[in-house]
Amino acid sequence: MGRGMGGRPGGLRGVDEDALRRQNAEAPAVPDLGRRVAALFRPYVGKIAVTALLVVIGAALGVVPPLVIERVFDEALFPPEGGVQMRLLGTLVAVIIGLYVLSAIVGVIQTWFTSNVGNRVTGDLRVKMFEHLQAMELGFFTRTKTGVIQSRLQNDVGGVSGVLTSTVTSILGNTVTVIASLVAMILIDWRLTLIAIVIMPPLVIVQRRVGQVRARIASETQQSLSELTAITQETLSVSGILLSKSFNRQRAESRRYADENANQIRLQVRQAMSGQGFFAVVHVLMASVPAVIYLVAGFIMVGDPGAITAGAIVAFTTVQARLLQPLTSLMRVALEVQTSAALFARIFEYLDLTPAITDAPDAIDVEDGPGPLGRIEFRDVTFRYPDASPDSRPTLDGVTFVAEPGQQVAFVGPSGAGKTTVLYLTPRLYEASSGQVLFAGADVRALRHESIIDHVGIVSQETYLFHATIRENLRYAKPDATDAEIEEACRQANIHHIIAGFEQGYDTVVGERGYRLSGGEKQRIAIARVLLKDPPVLLLDEATSALDTVSERIVQEALEAAARGRTTLSIAHRLSTVIDADVIHVVEAGRIVESGTHSELIARGGLYAELAAEQLASTRVLETEEAVAGELPPPDLARRRADRAPEEERAAATADVVPPATGALALPVADPVTGEVPEP
Ligand SMILES: Nc1ncnc2c1ncn2[C@@H]1O[C@H](COP(=O)(O)OP(=O)(O)OP(=O)(O)O)[C@@H](O)[C@H]1O
Ligand SMILES: [Mg+2]
Repeated sequence: MGRGMGGRPGGLRGVDEDALRRQNAEAPAVPDLGRRVAALFRPYVGKIAVTALLVVIGAALGVVPPLVIERVFDEALFPPEGGVQMRLLGTLVAVIIGLYVLSAIVGVIQTWFTSNVGNRVTGDLRVKMFEHLQAMELGFFTRTKTGVIQSRLQNDVGGVSGVLTSTVTSILGNTVTVIASLVAMILIDWRLTLIAIVIMPPLVIVQRRVGQVRARIASETQQSLSELTAITQETLSVSGILLSKSFNRQRAESRRYADENANQIRLQVRQAMSGQGFFAVVHVLMASVPAVIYLVAGFIMVGDPGAITAGAIVAFTTVQARLLQPLTSLMRVALEVQTSAALFARIFEYLDLTPAITDAPDAIDVEDGPGPLGRIEFRDVTFRYPDASPDSRPTLDGVTFVAEPGQQVAFVGPSGAGKTTVLYLTPRLYEASSGQVLFAGADVRALRHESIIDHVGIVSQETYLFHATIRENLRYAKPDATDAEIEEACRQANIHHIIAGFEQGYDTVVGERGYRLSGGEKQRIAIARVLLKDPPVLLLDEATSALDTVSERIVQEALEAAARGRTTLSIAHRLSTVIDADVIHVVEAGRIVESGTHSELIARGGLYAELAAEQLASTRVLETEEAVAGELPPPDLARRRADRAPEEERAAATADVVPPATGALALPVADPVTGEVPEP
């Protein structure tokens, strides 16, 4: 946790208060915080009351033994009449031991109560937060770092139990201890009490200062340690080692590690030394106070012999020694309360996030939609990612198309054109900024989101597999799938023979993020996973560009098998995979600029024909650049890229809608993919 909820009785560790204050200042403002925190603990109010009572009893009990010690000295060991009062001594010693046993028992019971309530509240919150986060829309996760989300769930929610087991109990316990000790001290001797009150504050302040220096070094050490861990994780993970090996960075990484390690050693030594210094200062100070009290007692007795007994001095110094630590931690009360408040504020901030995409109260199921299942329609859809600046070009701009049930609809276009975005909008993973997306004839906003997802299979550009067996990864789509069903799906996806070839077959663990499998294998497993789900609509974001031609063909066959009998929206990077599509939409800078079948688009000689020619050129390795260039005018693709600078883009935007009517492009040209010449 590293948050130093601190202040436990007996704890001498310091807290880096400045760091804590900075962190608290960043906490979000949450109205009604106190009331909401109280609501969290309300179900446990009975247990909390018992806890509070136990804390008070425990703290008060701690002050009684010194009072008994006073009698041990003055009445049993050294009575004024001389001789030792053995019987009284025995009773008093038994009382002292009994008191310590009692306060130990109270301590144990109190810990049981606090940790029970604290951890239960934490547990409730953790599940609540997890469920809430799962309901958040996709956009939330693309804009929030995973580490931040994890930290809220682990550290902040985890810190809640500490608020009760440590902060609240220590504030209460320390307050009682301080008050009870002061009362006891006054009862023993008011003059000594005055002296103690005068010399305690500087002591507390010194201890606090030294503690802070120590805490700062400790937090630096901790930071350096996490840096070391981060280097290890980055470098010694599959992707990390792959990266460092492929860039020959091992030596540089080793140097980075050695440097941080040297820093770590320096800090560790400093920490050890500051620890020594800290304890030395505290010990000297603590030991000095009784000595000063002896001295003062001496002065008092010079004037008034017999005013203070030996027992009173022993009892007084015992009580006083117990006072330092509670006082020090009480000086931090404000900070601790702020820290706890900040903790709860961060938690409530997350719990208060409203998912941007929720079901309408009267949402219906896809089956009850007006149109045929499998029909998808975009009506003048404009979309901007939530974190995009409002004056930027929209990611999708007036996109309109219809996919009839069972149709194969393909999207092609330059990188960054918005193809994947179209797929995201279809099942309402994101929501159109304007215009309408219809699923089975109903606006997606009128449908129950779970019901949409039930009818859609998604194979995304980046295949995600869990670190589990292949079988478990496949069952994710259909938990009750039989082994025969799983095998059948894998056969259709062209992957069964590969899995069967593994030593452990379907029980092979795929490795973190699927590293044990090749890109094409992973993709085919993803396809099999969708086939198991058997949805009427398929959204395929193909990543075949990463595969060689043979693997691509295999994946392509798997995709064709998957597409049969379903409405399929697929994104293709290799145009060879879309030749048979019923409609191909060419997307450029967020707009559909051309639509038609493969041969229609080739005949048209627009962007699609250019892309086709470009792909052909890159596959014809043996031909010279001139030969390729001679066949078609040099494609002006750089200008058409969606990722170009915004100024050029606006200037070019109007020109882009109508394909440039150059003579050469208007001529019928040989189909670069099939080689056929279309009819003019
Ligand atoms: N989560 C996001 N937040 C903001 N902008 C995004 C987000 N995801 C994508 N974009 C931007 O939206 C544009 C379209 O992205 P999209 O992923 O739809 O492109 P694409 O056509 O699928 O490209 P590729 O062929 O490279 O996969 C890009 O400019 C991209 O940078
Ligand atoms: Mg994409």
